[in-house]
Amino acid sequence: MARAKITIVGAGNVGATAAHWAATKELGDVVLVDIIEGVPQGKALDLWEAAPVGLFDCRMIGSNSYEETADSDVVIITAGIARKPGMSRDELLATNTNIVKSVTEECVKASPNAFLIVVSNPLDAMTWVAKQVSGFPKERVMGMAGMLDSARFRSFVALELDVSVEDTFALVMGGHGDTMVPLPRYSTVAGIPITELMTPEQIDRIVDRTRNAGAEIVGFLKTGSAYYSPAACVVEMAEAIIKDKKRITPCAAYLEGEYGIDGVYVGVPIKLGAGGVEEILELDLTDEEQAMLHKSADHVRDLVDQISL
Ligand code: APR
Repeated sequence: MARAKITIVGAGNVGATAAHWAATKELGDVVLVDIIEGVPQGKALDLWEAAPVGLFDCRMIGSNSYEETADSDVVIITAGIARKPGMSRDELLATNTNIVKSVTEECVKASPNAFLIVVSNPLDAMTWVAKQVSGFPKERVMGMAGMLDSARFRSFVALELDVSVEDTFALVMGGHGDTMVPLPRYSTVAGIPITELMTPEQIDRIVDRTRNAGAEIVGFLKTGSAYYSPAACVVEMAEAIIKDKKRITPCAAYLEGEYGIDGVYVGVPIKLGAGGVEEILELDLTDEEQAMLHKSADHVRDLVDQISL
């Protein structure tokens, strides 16, 4: 069986870290693409030279063009600018729309059968751009955010209760931004809902910290945004597709009536496998949760309405 091929566009913080993790998981050959001359080549070569000691047997290629990306199974789009302190993800809209549009056009020409996973922000709107421009079916275009927001929630639950992260599960739905919808009653430690393990005040604190987790990191870094955790999550998504794991995880998926939402990308629990977004799970939300989800979807729709392709 041929090795899987993964293209990562954007060899910056998220892209290069994703390449590193894809390599250590021996997920497949990686092609790193960036507009900056030399950077993808240098990072890919450096990573390849670690292969003998890291013991991974996948090729790492860097390029400024798309020929090398031909026939990729999965394309990860991280190209774009990252936010600085005080900026919201939404402020990246105009710049990153142009970047994601041109990158998608190139990727799709080279790899017409690939799965596209978008990481560039504002996430839900950029995933919509990738879908519009690619013309790919909704099963093959998705955004990485729900898994990240849920991982952040889980990491805070583990800290608060001093338990293993391995035993935590969390569900965060909605757009990747201030309107995201953490769902404590679907968040557990070893199957026990956190609502039974924590006070409402503790939960509120964790929910707040999760909503602002991206900004918390930007506040520390000052010159860019989070990359270890976004990269880990996007590699986990690529792995679920390549290995047909049928993971149940929140991702930005294109909704056509599910949860009463139509025509936008929003974070919802999906089944992720060799067919891409194989299923959207429709949970029974309370009226309050449903209202929060709709508010979040409306916000994504406002952003999308500002885009002209
Ligand atoms: N084609 C290819 N690469 C591009 C293009 C393009 N048209 N435009 C920009 N890039 C590259 C930049 O040269 C840079 O190397 O994208 C890379 C982005 O890297 P960083 O600036 O380090 O940003 P990063 O932290 O990786 O974030 C990338 O993901 O999480 C989101 O909000 C974040 O939108 C941002 C994206």
